[in-house]
Amino acid sequence: MSGAPRPRGVLARWEAVLPLTPRTPRITLGEGDTPLVRSAAIERELGLDELWFKLESCNPTGSFKDRGMVVAAARAIERGAESLLCASTGNTSASAAAYAARCGLRAGILVPRGRVAAGKLAQAAAFGARIVEIEGGFDDALRLARELAANRPVALVNSVNPDRIEGQKTAAFEICEELGDAPDALAIPVGNAGNVTAYWKGFRECAELDRASRHPRMLGFQAAGAAPIVRGAPVAEPRTVATAIRIGNPASWRGATDARDESGGAIEAVSDEEILDAWRLLARAEGLFVEPASAAGVAGLRKLAREGGLRGGRVVAVLTGSGLKDPETAREHCAPDMAAAPATLEGVERALGL
Ligand code: F0G
Repeated sequence: MSGAPRPRGVLARWEAVLPLTPRTPRITLGEGDTPLVRSAAIERELGLDELWFKLESCNPTGSFKDRGMVVAAARAIERGAESLLCASTGNTSASAAAYAARCGLRAGILVPRGRVAAGKLAQAAAFGARIVEIEGGFDDALRLARELAANRPVALVNSVNPDRIEGQKTAAFEICEELGDAPDALAIPVGNAGNVTAYWKGFRECAELDRASRHPRMLGFQAAGAAPIVRGAPVAEPRTVATAIRIGNPASWRGATDARDESGGAIEAVSDEEILDAWRLLARAEGLFVEPASAAGVAGLRKLAREGGLRGGRVVAVLTGSGLKDPETAREHCAPDMAAAPATLEGVERALGL
């Protein structure tokens, strides 16, 4: 067999539903087209007909951010930008730094000091981004980034940039295509609320374009110590082990509540303990190592099931980022089953309990 390889990446694959022009450079790092994997254990625990995991950790920088970043970077280049700027709890900055490196742009990233998981900072450093540690939280960093972008010739690539939302909505298109329709519900962690907004836009468009016959219920989950949407007011000092979603005043607040209300869904809070339990279960019972924030969706489904609020059917849980992003939390919360042994067969047999 011969022939050209299938075009890869979000821009090539989803051109028809993205705001691209003939002048938009068709850049890619191979993002999108992530696996949808059926649950082996949690599905039964929850009493669902089907539970599927969308493995967004399989994107090139290890999180869903790449889907939106490729669109935002391409459109920024089209408009003549030379620098990308973002505020981030870590994953947006890793992604912005990667696409900037790929495209010969500068990247400036504002991160809350001491609150970014090690893997994410290592990525931004490797890609050569200028990292500015802010003595404050993500919300301070985003406020400053927005002010800077209003006055300086830099492209702001946070999810307040509509191109990010456009790119991220393609995950909903992939899910509808693979399942043959929209699922009954989508479970997703909520931080700055761009992703839940993007999925809802994607599912609405799928229905409009006859790629789906219905909409899913959108089930968003915030960490209890950083749950402004659930409480109905900003949280001044958000706290959670899930540093990716340690956000007190989400930029896409309205997008999240619209998704909830229009879909007949819910946005609820899960405790750090519930997040870590779900995170451990994903690793131990499903073989899926995600970062803590990514487990918030599954933690939320377990909570709804316990409270009788899950209606069965077919559910998709979005696993937003890789466990390799945050090795410190993994070490801290999962004691390794480890032993030392001399370099002898007997010693190793004993250590393995054989
Ligand atoms: N999961 C992960 C792994 C994230 O990094 C984020 C957000 C979310 C979920 C929540 O998505 O903000 O669209 O509601 N991370 C941003 C960042 C804030 O800077 O990397 P959201």
